[in-house]
Amino acid sequence: MLTSEPGKPIRVALLGCGVVGSSVARMLVEQADDLAARIGAPLELVGVAVRRIGKDRSDIPVDPALFTTDAATLVTAADIVIEVVGGIDPARELLLSAIANGASVVTANKALLAEDGPTLYAAADAAGVDLYFEAAVAGAIPILRPIRESLAGDRVAKVLGIVNGTTNFVLDKMDTTGAGFAETVAQAQALGYAEADPTADVEGFDAAAKAALLASLAFHTRVSGRDVYREGITEVSAADMAAAKEMDCVVKLLAICERSTTPDGEGVCVRVHPAMIARTHPLASVRDAYNAVFVQASAAGELMFYGKGAGGDPTASAVLGDLVAVARHRVSGGRGPGESAYADLPILDFGTSSTRYHISLDVDDRPGVLAAVATEFARHDVSIDTVRQHVLTDPETGEQRANLVVVTHRATEAALAATVDALAGLDTVAEVVSVMRVEGA
Ligand code: NDP
Ligand code: HSE
Repeated sequence: MLTSEPGKPIRVALLGCGVVGSSVARMLVEQADDLAARIGAPLELVGVAVRRIGKDRSDIPVDPALFTTDAATLVTAADIVIEVVGGIDPARELLLSAIANGASVVTANKALLAEDGPTLYAAADAAGVDLYFEAAVAGAIPILRPIRESLAGDRVAKVLGIVNGTTNFVLDKMDTTGAGFAETVAQAQALGYAEADPTADVEGFDAAAKAALLASLAFHTRVSGRDVYREGITEVSAADMAAAKEMDCVVKLLAICERSTTPDGEGVCVRVHPAMIARTHPLASVRDAYNAVFVQASAAGELMFYGKGAGGDPTASAVLGDLVAVARHRVSGGRGPGESAYADLPILDFGTSSTRYHISLDVDDRPGVLAAVATEFARHDVSIDTVRQHVLTDPETGEQRANLVVVTHRATEAALAATVDALAGLDTVAEVVSVMRVEGA
């Protein structure tokens, strides 16, 4: 057990001084006295690793001599290492080296944890140090510690949420102002919400990494980013947004983690995809870069966590919270919980998960077409809730077609995929225009 000498400063190394790191550095300096009082020992910032040493950082109240490009040496000289560099390498090697040297680690790096968390957990266990990562999921929102600690006596069945600020910002602006996709992604980048490569946000990789962490902690099992079914928001069209409006819904990128029982046994299914949700649903009112996470547990019932999901200061709040926790452990001699993966649940096939669907089809406008379409739904055991039809006239040929919007009751992904394939093969179906999941109802 690693314990600091009473009164001796706890040495902190900061890796990264970008959007999050610069807020962390500022708060470390400006709140030094409060942090020392809360921890029971002062913190000493021993270095800040960056990539570009020549960059102007005069707005950051840190001694310029502390900036270094030699992160590898810096991590060997600290009691606690804060990693806000991002990406897999060199972050992984730096953290493993820090842990091997007896340092506790605080990181916001969901990509690394979802890729190789067990290696880091094992190293932290072997060294008897802490590995904390509250900032890795949903920015400022305290969600991991409540799941890992407060709900440790309950049984979590489902975690559902909006966990990516960039995509929520983009979808919200597209919905409310009609702004274009590229323009809103650029705004999210300028505001510091997006990842270094915003593809990670818009293609759903960031949300998938967060979903993997949430599912691992909630269900006491191992889920990696590769186990998560993922669709991003790049295929969400103006027509999808309009269709959602007609249904009095909004489109959100959702992360859904479920522990369920299928005929093959109990397992976990984790998915990230855009979905329509009713405007009356609490998630519909999550605007801008805010995040929200619902947790459904056997005894606790439904819990909802809401707050800023991205940005320098909100994320730094979560980083500093972890820093205080692990620093207190250094003072008192304790250690926080390590990995809990005893449940060892299998990852269920995505085809077994179920939800409702909104399907838009352009079809021939003649007798028997609706019946043929309905037959394909019935043949694949997908029950129809509502059907709406309106006539379309081709502006060039004057030819008439019908657009059918079918909303289903709950069906499995496998059944829905087979239905859509069959519909696309009908002579009378000109095009399956869109298929979108409908959640929260
Ligand atoms: P930035 O790109 O803004 O900052 C990255 C920092 O790391 C920069 O200071 C950069 O140096 C430094 N850096 C890059 N490569 C190296 C290297 N090889 N050695 C040393 N330093 C290096 O990223 P963010 O602050 O936005 O994100 C950091 C982490 O926090 C990521 O894991 C991200 O996923 C996570 N996160 C981000 C949130 C956000 O809202 N932005 C929210 C929650 C988590 P330089 O300044 O010289 O370029
Ligand atoms: N790029 C991430 C987001 C940062 O937009 O949510 C917060 O993890």
